[in-house]
Formats: sequence, structure tokens, C-alpha cells
Amino acid sequence: MADLHIQINRDKGGIAGQIASELRDSIRGGRLTPGTRLPATRDLATDLQVSRGVVVEAYEQLVAEGFLVSRVGVGTQVTLKTASRAAPRQKTPPRPRPVRRASSALASAPPYYGHRPTSPDLSHFPRERWLAAVRHVLTTVPSEAFDYGDPGGVPELREELAGYLRRVRAADVRPENLVIVGGVAQGLSLVLHVLSRQRPVRLAVEDPTSHRQAPLLRRAGAHLVPVPVDEEGLDVRKLSGDAVLVTPAHQYPTGVVLSPPRRAALMEWAYAGDRVILEDDYDAEFRFDRDPVGCLQGLAPDRVILSGSVSKALAPGLRLGWVAAPPDLAEAVRRARGELDLGSPVVEQYALAHFLRTGGYDKHLRRMRREYRRRRDALVRALAEEVPEVRVKGIDAGLHVYLELPAGWDEPRAARVAQELGLSAEPVGPMRESAGPAAVVVGFARLPAHKALDAVRGLKVRMSGQNVD
Ligand SMILES: Cc1ncc(COP(=O)(O)O)c(C=O)c1O
Repeated sequence: MADLHIQINRDKGGIAGQIASELRDSIRGGRLTPGTRLPATRDLATDLQVSRGVVVEAYEQLVAEGFLVSRVGVGTQVTLKTASRAAPRQKTPPRPRPVRRASSALASAPPYYGHRPTSPDLSHFPRERWLAAVRHVLTTVPSEAFDYGDPGGVPELREELAGYLRRVRAADVRPENLVIVGGVAQGLSLVLHVLSRQRPVRLAVEDPTSHRQAPLLRRAGAHLVPVPVDEEGLDVRKLSGDAVLVTPAHQYPTGVVLSPPRRAALMEWAYAGDRVILEDDYDAEFRFDRDPVGCLQGLAPDRVILSGSVSKALAPGLRLGWVAAPPDLAEAVRRARGELDLGSPVVEQYALAHFLRTGGYDKHLRRMRREYRRRRDALVRALAEEVPEVRVKGIDAGLHVYLELPAGWDEPRAARVAQELGLSAEPVGPMRESAGPAAVVVGFARLPAHKALDAVRGLKVRMSGQNVD
């Protein structure tokens, strides 16, 4: 049984988060080794003089992230997966086999459906505070700062982001692991360019997946291998390929979260065959029912390449994002960026660094999280009241809901009607490789809570009369 030395600062609040963070650091640092049993929640609560619920919350967080496993009769232990970091690795990955070129969903160019269901409410862009950040930059940085910058990003931003990702996403990053890019899309492109320079990459992708990504991934040199997604996220047993692209915090489009056993299985898969995991962390800051589950990268920083951006938190038009990768790969991505286009605009990078440093980013996120939660609740409630036959799937998170449609509802029509009612909506069919239930993705970010009921009633009326127009 581990003897834990956990320090908590009662003045800071968020005690469960502090305990989770101390435990996470101890596991990463090797002070808590794989298999170690943790004290019973009651005992640790007594030691720390906190309520038992607080310790339970901390343990649950780390179970969800894959650092701990909890079994009836055994208690809570450090997961064995950290041992697999040291397990012998297969140096030469299996030779890539030719793959069937994906047809239908993965092959076709995406149709245009107006606003994306994952886009934020742009009317809430913090114009004043962003202006203040840009003004601060323009009045303080030396003239030399406007020259070509480091293609990996301005050091001030990498420093701030590393701190932010460690704190908010439980990532295991330092500024030198980070490359600033023009969003998740460019981050994935660059990483795949680099990986496919060494050898052709057979990239496993979730099925269904964002239909916009397939052309981008192929253009970057990947051969796509669809792998089904179920209620627990990507079906890891069916994985094949040299690398995988996943949305573990909130699968797009189905909205499910990758379960703790699947997280562990995914790690094993990566370590067993010298494979990499590309983690698309596109909307992870928006979790409404609990703290966001830490990213996979924090569990295995030598295997996982994390990609995120400000597209959901601030605005996609800023085209600002990041890639966190092991040092060699981060350096290769930085060089590739230098060769490709010499890097991202520097003024915006300094402004984001200032925004992060002064707490503006966190404040904006807190405000938007509350607002989006209200909007999601209102939409889900209206659906349950008016059209209970429509099934809302996925966790309480993000900026979109995945709706399974009742028998007789046509996907493209449901999406079109939803758009006409002012919602951002897309049919899921074009995102699928294998057949699946009729479903649409609906974005709620731009739908004020007080308009949800009318929108849903409109949908109900128009869809029940679908055979007549
Ligand atoms: C699942 C998913 N990943 C990635 C992206 C791309 O994001 P970015 O704007 O950071 O390139 C999107 C954008 O809609 C998305 O929905």
C-alpha cells in the first residue's frame, strides 16, 4: 500500500483537482509505480482531513484518464500501462500492406452545409479583451519581433501554452515540445507529412469521423483505415495500421468519450508495435458534467501527439493551434513548418500569450462553458419533451449533439430543416464508411436557450409532414 505525501493548499480551492494533480505527478515521476495500491478513499480522506467524496472524485478522475484502475475487492491501483513504456518495443514496424482505397464517405469531397456544428458562437468573441491584448503587443514588443519568427512559434506563447495545457488538459509538455500551427487541421497535416516522409503511413481513423478531414489527411500522405466507433469510443480490438487518429475526449461526431479500458488498450496497441496516436483535442475544454478528462498525451507523451486549437474557445478564424509531440518529432514538425511557409503570424501569437498570461482566456472559457451548458440543456430538454423518439447520444460536452433519428426521418432532410430553423446541422451519413443508424449532428453554440423549444417544435412539425413537401 502506498504511503502518499500529498500536499494540498486549502486556500486555493479545487482540493480534488489538487489531489489528482499530485497523484498524476507521482505516477509520472515514478514515485508511484505500476501496480501500487492506493489507500482506501476513507483512509486518505482522514489523513488529509478532507471529505471522502473529495478523494473519490480525485480517484475517479484518474481512473477516467487511465492512470488508475479500480476493481471491486482489489481497490484502486496504479495502472500497469506505465510499465508498458519500458516494455520491449518492436523496433521495425510491420511493413505497410496495400489498403483498399476507402470509398464513399472517406473518399468524397465534403458538401458545404453552412455553419459548422462545432463552431462557437462568434458573437461572443471577446473583442474588447482581444483588442487590449493586441494593443498591449503593439505598444510593448520591440520592432525586431515583427521579423520572421521561429517557425515553431514565438517562445512566449509556447511557454504560456505549455503551462495552460499542463494545468487544464493534464498534458505532459514543455515549451520545446510545442509547435504553434494554424489549427488542428494544419497540425495534423504537418505531422503526417513528417511521418509519411519516413514511410507510408496507414492511418486508422474513427468511423464515423469528420468528413472534412479525409481529404486533408490523404493529401498529407496517409492511407486511411476506418475503424468502428461504439458507445465506448474507438473499438481498439479492430485497430490496424501504423498510427491512429482519435478524438478521445469527445468523439466527433458521436459525442462519446473513450472509456478507461479502451484508453488502456489503445496505449497497449501503440507500445506493442512502435505506433503513434494522433490525439485531436478539438473541443475538450467544454465538458459540462465534470472536469474534463486529461488528454491521452499526458499518459504517454512519448507515443501521443496532441493537437488542439483556439477554434472552439475563441474563433476558428484566428487559425491558431498547437502540436505537442516528443522532442524529435516536434523538431521535425517545426522544420517542416519552416520549409512550408515560415510559420504563423506573430502578432496574434503574442496576443494569445498575453491573453493566457493575464487570465483572459480562462475567464472567457468559464463564461462560455456556463453559456453553452445552458444552451445544450435547453436543446436536450426540448427534444425530450417534444420529440422523445429522437435519441440524444454522447456525453454532456462540446458544442454539438449527435441525434439518432426515428424510423422514417430522412437524414439530409432533417439536417436541411434544422438549418432552415437557424441551427447548424449536418447529416452523419457522409461521415460514415460503414452503414449506421440515421443521425444528424446539431450545433447548439449559436442557439440561445430561450429559442430551443421553438426550434425543436419547428423541427417536429416539419419532419412529421416530411412526406407532403
Ligand atoms: C473534430 C474536429 N477536429 C478538428 C477540427 C479542425 O479544427 P481547427 O480549426 O483547429 O483546424 C474540427 C473543426 O471543425 C473538428 O470538428
